[in-house]
Amino acid sequence: MKALVDRREATAATADAVVSGVFERGDKETTFPRTLAKEDAAAKGLVRGAWDSKEIKGKWREVTVLHRPDGRGRIVLVGLGPRGRFDAETVRRAVAEAIRALKGRGARTIAIRLPAFTQEPVSSETAARAVVDGAFLASYDFVKYKSTTEGGVEEATIALGEELEREETTVRKAVDEQRLIVETVLWTRDIANLPADTCSPARLADEAKALGKELGLKVTVFDETKLAEMQCGGILAVGSGSAAHPPRMVVLEYSGGARRGKTIAVVGKGITFDSGGISIKPAPAMANMKFDKSGAVAVLGILRAAALLKVPPRVIGVLGCAENVPSGTSYRPGDVVRTYNGKTIEVLNTDAEGRVVLADALAYAVDQYHPDEVIDLATLTGAQTIALGDAMAGLVSTDDRLANGLLAASAATGEPVWRMPLTDYHRELVKSRVGDVRNSIEIPVAGMLTAAAFLENFVDGTPWAHLDIAGPAYTTGQTLRYQPSYQNRGATGFGVRLVTKYLSEASRAT
Ligand code: BES
Ligand code: MN
Ligand code: ZN
Repeated sequence: MKALVDRREATAATADAVVSGVFERGDKETTFPRTLAKEDAAAKGLVRGAWDSKEIKGKWREVTVLHRPDGRGRIVLVGLGPRGRFDAETVRRAVAEAIRALKGRGARTIAIRLPAFTQEPVSSETAARAVVDGAFLASYDFVKYKSTTEGGVEEATIALGEELEREETTVRKAVDEQRLIVETVLWTRDIANLPADTCSPARLADEAKALGKELGLKVTVFDETKLAEMQCGGILAVGSGSAAHPPRMVVLEYSGGARRGKTIAVVGKGITFDSGGISIKPAPAMANMKFDKSGAVAVLGILRAAALLKVPPRVIGVLGCAENVPSGTSYRPGDVVRTYNGKTIEVLNTDAEGRVVLADALAYAVDQYHPDEVIDLATLTGAQTIALGDAMAGLVSTDDRLANGLLAASAATGEPVWRMPLTDYHRELVKSRVGDVRNSIEIPVAGMLTAAAFLENFVDGTPWAHLDIAGPAYTTGQTLRYQPSYQNRGATGFGVRLVTKYLSEASRAT
């Protein structure tokens, strides 16, 4: 996929399809929208005819494909819904609807008209970024293992209207930057979609090293021997069952674009396969547990985007990677493991492995780098999906400024997040009688929040935000129809756009 900005009408005229948005019309509204005049002229009145006959109503998700009578391409009209509800997310989804409608139908190049979208309160820059998001995300497919593929749109040009002439430089800059971000999301999806036989902890470490080489990031990989020296008993315990794929901890350092920037640590759960271990999961949907590395892969993406964009803060990425499988060498319920910061975990369920791995990764990040803030991303609990569904992440934070910053980034990027509470009630629940904390409790209450309360033990008071992405990290066939239209089956790359936005807005160290 390519995305360009162009002002010449000739480019639009030669595209295989020209895409325009149409707002929903009121019952008595008959005035033909000014924004469709060019298309109507090219189509010799066809568009006007479709409008007059109420074929086109501008309803949300309404897609109309017309063919120009001269045979020189299609005109695609996408309903935007009511004007009053128009926002950046409308643009992302509308563009995605058009890309989907054209999939496998011989349209290789498209021109997307920008002026149609530039109605208050969305600036043309925001709209342009949203077009890039929608176009790239919707055209993604995980095709690595396919011998045949359906051709889709390969090149999207943003056709800037004359009224936006003065904003051309801003729009171009925004498009170039957003391309870097969204291409990184697709890069992330490609890794997160890999099956566990291919994507082991060592493979995640290799991806980090390759990225480091490409972008000049310092990358350090700790193997089993090193992890034992460092007393990372959590990662080692979770990884102990897998003879084939031993655990790794991976650290990436981006030195920051600002002179007195903050240091922000971003920590990810990288379980390359979560069978549950000795506390084995039931067979249905176990295959989805290849996505249990999505937090760690998102961290790779965040570091990639941060470095490409040269965001102000220094960013440290820490990946806790292991494969959780049952065997004679696996850790077992009842075991007590000592972690990097000296605290002990009573393991009551080997399927609550994410928090055990994150214990070491978080403790290491705060001890070694003294970050101003630490953010973790993890497909941590099924309870997250029960509470919020699979389109939205749960946010738990000990710091209102950090939490509000992430909520603002969520609103701007359209990656939905909902803040949840963390109280002494939850903290009490994770105390252990044998060790310091226990990794699971016997009663099914507030699973997302007890997991967060557990993690809090390993951040040493550092302002911290936890994103439980168990639901939104991937999409299954069952819920795809309820997801934004730019989402595909499989890994979503959730968190990359959100946290990258947060990092680019991060102010200086105080
Ligand atoms: N990786 C799972 C959480 C998960 C479940 C992610 C479904 C995506 C979809 C995690 O390791 C897990 O198994 N959590 C347990 C914790 C429980 C044993 C305390 C859970 O949520 O059931
Ligand atoms: Mn598990
Ligand atoms: Zn897991």
